[in-house]
Amino acid sequence: MVRWSFARRALALLQLFYNPVDSYLDNKTGEVIIPGASSYNGLNLVPQMGWDNWNAFQCNVNESLLLNTARAMVDYGLRDLGYNYIVLDDCWSIGRNSTGYLVANPEKFPSGMKHVADTLHSMGMKFGMYSSAGVYTCGKYPGSLGYEQKDADLWASWDVDYLKYDNCYNQGQSGNAMLSFNRYDVMSKALNKTGRPILYSLCNWGDDNPFDWAYTISNSWRMSGDVYDSFNRPDSRCPCTETPCAWPGYHCSIMNILNKMTPITSRSQPGAFNDMDMLEVGNGGQSDSEYVVHFSMWAINSSPLLIGTNVLTLSPANLAIYSNPAVLALNQDPSGSAAVRKWQYFVNPDETGEGEIALWTRSMDNGDQVFALLNAGNLSMMMNTTLYDIFLDDATAGAYQAPPELSESWDVYDLWANRMSDEEAGSIINGTAPTIGANSNSTTRYNATATSYADGLMNNNTALYGSKVGTIGPGSQSRFSAMIDRHSAGLYRIRQASSTMRKRDEL
Ligand SMILES: *[C@@H]1O[C@H](CO)[C@@H](O)[C@H](O)[C@H]1NC(C)=O
Ligand SMILES: *[C@@H]1O[C@H](CO)[C@@H](O)[C@H](O)[C@H]1NC(C)=O
Ligand SMILES: *[C@@H]1O[C@H](CO)[C@@H](O)[C@H](O)[C@H]1NC(C)=O
Ligand SMILES: *[C@@H]1O[C@H](CO)[C@@H](O)[C@H](O)[C@H]1NC(C)=O
Ligand SMILES: *[C@@H]1O[C@H](CO)[C@@H](O)[C@H](O)[C@H]1NC(C)=O
Ligand SMILES: *[C@@H]1O[C@H](CO)[C@@H](O)[C@H](O)[C@H]1NC(C)=O
Ligand SMILES: *[C@@H]1O[C@H](CO)[C@@H](O)[C@H](O)[C@H]1NC(C)=O
Ligand SMILES: *[C@@H]1O[C@H](CO)[C@@H](O)[C@H](O)[C@H]1NC(C)=O
Ligand SMILES: *[C@@H]1O[C@H](CO)[C@@H](O)[C@H](O)[C@H]1NC(C)=O
Ligand SMILES: *[C@@H]1O[C@H](CO)[C@@H](O)[C@H](O)[C@H]1NC(C)=O
Repeated sequence: MVRWSFARRALALLQLFYNPVDSYLDNKTGEVIIPGASSYNGLNLVPQMGWDNWNAFQCNVNESLLLNTARAMVDYGLRDLGYNYIVLDDCWSIGRNSTGYLVANPEKFPSGMKHVADTLHSMGMKFGMYSSAGVYTCGKYPGSLGYEQKDADLWASWDVDYLKYDNCYNQGQSGNAMLSFNRYDVMSKALNKTGRPILYSLCNWGDDNPFDWAYTISNSWRMSGDVYDSFNRPDSRCPCTETPCAWPGYHCSIMNILNKMTPITSRSQPGAFNDMDMLEVGNGGQSDSEYVVHFSMWAINSSPLLIGTNVLTLSPANLAIYSNPAVLALNQDPSGSAAVRKWQYFVNPDETGEGEIALWTRSMDNGDQVFALLNAGNLSMMMNTTLYDIFLDDATAGAYQAPPELSESWDVYDLWANRMSDEEAGSIINGTAPTIGANSNSTTRYNATATSYADGLMNNNTALYGSKVGTIGPGSQSRFSAMIDRHSAGLYRIRQASSTMRKRDEL
């Protein structure tokens, strides 16, 4: 009797843990696909895009800021480029009521959160909410630790679509992966239990190496301390220059965060991304070319792209950066992969960190490759890459023989060549630009609501491919060179040249 009941319990346990899934072989890539394995809740197969108020407004939030920003994003074509989450950050509540539910600040949100969500949804936008996996939020408002299900239920009742979940005041429940995992998992399960699809974005600053564990319970995780609007100024509040990092801190520069990505880029996958933090483009702390580097390197690394500036006062130049469809198509590539830094040299080293140049590359879903020539040094220079550099990983994988890509020719497309002019961006801002439809042949603008990036890429939409600037290959030492200004990056997509493909057909 005892034995029988023990066996039954063992069987029940087995059934609990053994969930058979129908895996299959993807005939195109040769990979074994486990359905559902790429996203714990089916959401965010490409990185989320939107706006978050923190970088520009901190705690100065209210209903009209969110709704006016959303309207401007629709009018400026940003929604139709994919920026569709409006994320409200810290400082929105006044406490909990007697039954333990959070109460929104009625002065800041006089019509209530449900009204904000409904209005955003009517505009084709989605609503993001903020809290902390601690007893307080970072701004010392009530946090969600111990109240996870109540808070998740409340947000779901408001029709919230997204949660940014911070790490302040966590009561010491951190310091190893298990403590952090368990704390963040409670909210993951609570969100799931609501039955509403809610994108779950961890904001735990890279603490306890979330890239090792967060993909099973969330859709993105911050991999560094908070960004600030500086290209490369070291700041003692952000002490680490490498991953893993014991003390994430904050005030991390663009180059600091980028270089911390290098060992962990392979942890990005469809449904679960390394989050390099919100964009600073437009906030005034960097030059135009530095913002282009920031935007390009976040895009190539599959970081979520959350506009972090005041959209209502956006300049034409900054709108042009946020709106480059060729760069957005790179970020939104169905591969959901990230980039690899193939090399880094210090050409003019000094203790301020000036002088770094680097080559980053990434494989695209359709067989294209993208590469960035990054000059973070202080002098313009001619930068070079060879086909060997670009296909290095194929050359060293297993067979140690030259990959077939080296015997082909590749057309090189400059992804910033068709950046829209300030004139054109200005006409979007003042409402005189034409709308963009599904069959648009614009080289500067794109409408991802009308045609997804995946479809546009498949159909060779001109706005998604930049402009052809050369051909490279065949031959491993075949070289592409470009003059790259100081604190600038060249961003290129290479596509197998059609002449090579004809040759292969003739063989
Ligand atoms: C892969 O090929 C096999 C055999 O040709 C076929 O039965 C299967 O349906 C294909 N799978 C997919 C996902 O296309
Ligand atoms: C809402 O917030 C914005 C940004 O902080 C501020 O400029 C505006 O005056 C506020 N509006 C109201 C009604 O409080
Ligand atoms: C507390 O807030 C919840 C959610 O808004 C609400 O349903 C409940 O009635 C409130 N309780 C009290 C006592 O006000
Ligand atoms: C909850 O989790 C299950 C199992 O992972 C998943 O299939 C389902 O889509 C999730 N539901 C929501 C609303 O996230
Ligand atoms: C970098 O170049 C700028 C001008 O282009 C100059 O003002 C600055 O002193 C240089 N910085 C270093 C560290 O060389
Ligand atoms: C790129 O190649 C040119 C021509 O060979 C050379 O002058 C230049 O130094 C190279 N640039 C770098 C950064 O190695
Ligand atoms: C709108 O902006 C464009 C570009 O700056 C300018 O040429 C045009 O005159 C403006 N139109 C109006 C009505 O302001
Ligand atoms: C994009 O296309 C949709 C229809 O699919 C349309 O409603 C929207 O106005 C277009 N956006 C722009 C910026 O033209
Ligand atoms: C783009 O489309 C417009 C209107 O459909 C047409 O007049 C123009 O010739 C096209 N331009 C190109 C480069 O195909
Ligand atoms: C897109 O361009 C590629 C490369 O030039 C070519 O192989 C493919 O056939 C084109 N696709 C379409 C739909 O035109």
